[in-house]
Amino acid sequence: MSLNYKVICITGTPGVGKTTTAKMLHKKLLKKGHESKIFSINEIAINNDLIIKYDEEKDFKIVDVEKLDKKFSELIHAEENNKNDLNSKNNLGNNNLSYTNNLNYTNNNLKFDNKELIAIVDGHLSHLCSRCDKTIVLRVNPDILKKRLIKRNYSKIKIKDNLESEVLAICSYEANEIHENKVNEIDTSDLSIYQILHICMDIIQDKNHLPIGKIDFMDYFLKGNE
Ligand SMILES: Nc1ncnc2c1ncn2[C@@H]1O[C@H](COP(=O)(O)OP(=O)(O)OP(=O)(O)O)[C@@H](O)[C@H]1O
Ligand SMILES: [Mg+2]
Repeated sequence: MSLNYKVICITGTPGVGKTTTAKMLHKKLLKKGHESKIFSINEIAINNDLIIKYDEEKDFKIVDVEKLDKKFSELIHAEENNKNDLNSKNNLGNNNLSYTNNLNYTNNNLKFDNKELIAIVDGHLSHLCSRCDKTIVLRVNPDILKKRLIKRNYSKIKIKDNLESEVLAICSYEANEIHENKVNEIDTSDLSIYQILHICMDIIQDKNHLPIGKIDFMDYFLKGNE
């Protein structure tokens, strides 16, 4: 049996809570006995020289998305090959064991094969990668996001751009164009991190699906913000 990663992309506007959520989700999955691996899409872009332009005024890095997609697929594939090698070695080892303790062999083998491999991919470009089983777009009320971005000392123009992206749900619509019904959206505005994790776990385990289009932050513009 070949082992494949279930790839879960955690995306959204800068500051929505992707890294916080991705790290805690990874820990939770490990605790629950899954084989989880976390990837930072930004680190992959930086470590592989995939930044093609830097917009100084907006403090915005432009990444070669095509190359990023290819690189990420290669990384996941390499991880899967490692797991499959380990798995076949494990099975060989267990074959020897089976002469002395057949029950133990069967149990171990099943346990290993049944474990789900889950890759958590953190980053606002993760939804642009083709290797994806589910995308979770984290959304947050622009008033909350504004406070977070001000705290980060972002420039006025960068804050305005990001708030516009959040109101217009840019990540959700981009993700939808590529992944359609694999895309989920969570309004995290009134949720604790534990509630967010709970929803993410249900999405990962196919117990919940939250299609895009239901979250509306347009009143941010109507209130006189631009
Ligand atoms: N559910 C939450 N409730 C309250 N605050 C949160 C929540 N999630 C994240 N935060 C806070 O919001 C800020 C931004 O979070 P985080 O760095 O995880 O965002 P991000 O989406 O990864 O941002 P970036 O795109 O810049 O990497 C942090 O100060 C974090 O503590
Ligand atoms: Mg982050």
